[in-house]
Amino acid sequence: MMKANNKNISPLLTLIGAGPGDPDLITVKGVKALSKAKVVLYDALVHLDLLNYVPETSIKILVGKRAGSLSYTQDEINKLIVKYAKKYGRVVRLKGGDPFIFGRGKEEIDYATKFGIKNEVIPGLTSSTSLPALQGISLTTRGVNESFWVVTGTTQSGLLSSDISLAARSTATVVVLMGRNKLLEIISIYKSLGRENLPIALIQNGSLPNEKIALGTMKTIEEEVCRKGVGTPAIIVIGEVVNQHPDYLFKTIEQKLLQDYSKN
Ligand SMILES: C[S@@+](CC[C@H](N)C(=O)[O-])C[C@H]1O[C@@H](n2cnc3c(N)ncnc32)[C@H](O)[C@@H]1O
Repeated sequence: MMKANNKNISPLLTLIGAGPGDPDLITVKGVKALSKAKVVLYDALVHLDLLNYVPETSIKILVGKRAGSLSYTQDEINKLIVKYAKKYGRVVRLKGGDPFIFGRGKEEIDYATKFGIKNEVIPGLTSSTSLPALQGISLTTRGVNESFWVVTGTTQSGLLSSDISLAARSTATVVVLMGRNKLLEIISIYKSLGRENLPIALIQNGSLPNEKIALGTMKTIEEEVCRKGVGTPAIIVIGEVVNQHPDYLFKTIEQKLLQDYSKN
């Protein structure tokens, strides 16, 4: 265990975005900060290989839920940040994707600031934009859409965000995070607007060797997701741009043939 030397300590909280999963998708600046960390508090979606950049003598604590481990509440994490920063100096909060995209990074900074702890933010590649890109899907495409929305599927109250209904009325590409369990609700919103042929994709464990992807339209996606066994964590990408995926055309022809076959 590392020794604390309170007299020469300059407490600092560094918030680092680890990227979507593949450990090579962290930034160079993030790696440099990890190599200077005294304490790393990391989330469950962070790739464990990233801990190899942290000095062996430093403290590393998993604060997110992973199979078989206990998770910490946000309040407990906030308190740990303050405690360790005061005791050891450089504390890193290593978070999946980008810390400021549905990552509660700002809450941690605000809490630490109240205790006089300085902070720096090292952004990461958010799953919402990087995973579609890795699949050859350009979230904005000239002449196709004029915006993209990143929406949470599960709000604080546990309900689907009402922003999805607003976005569904526009040309926007919509990326839903934490929405896998709300897929049927999302499909019914688009269907009620007559958009049942709109392309949609689900990407689970994006950028990792166990990645799964389901492609289809509002009409076919439910069946495809079940067939592929797409679970969580997943993002949902909705919009005409999804048809840029190299397998999209083949998939939708296959699904149409299967549906026609099952009708006869
Ligand atoms: C609490 S949010 C954190 C988002 C993160 N800050 C970001 O910028 O990507 C967690 C959600 O991000 C999405 N997610 C993160 N990493 C993912 C991955 N590798 N594959 C699929 N979805 C992912 C899922 O929707 C998951 O439920």
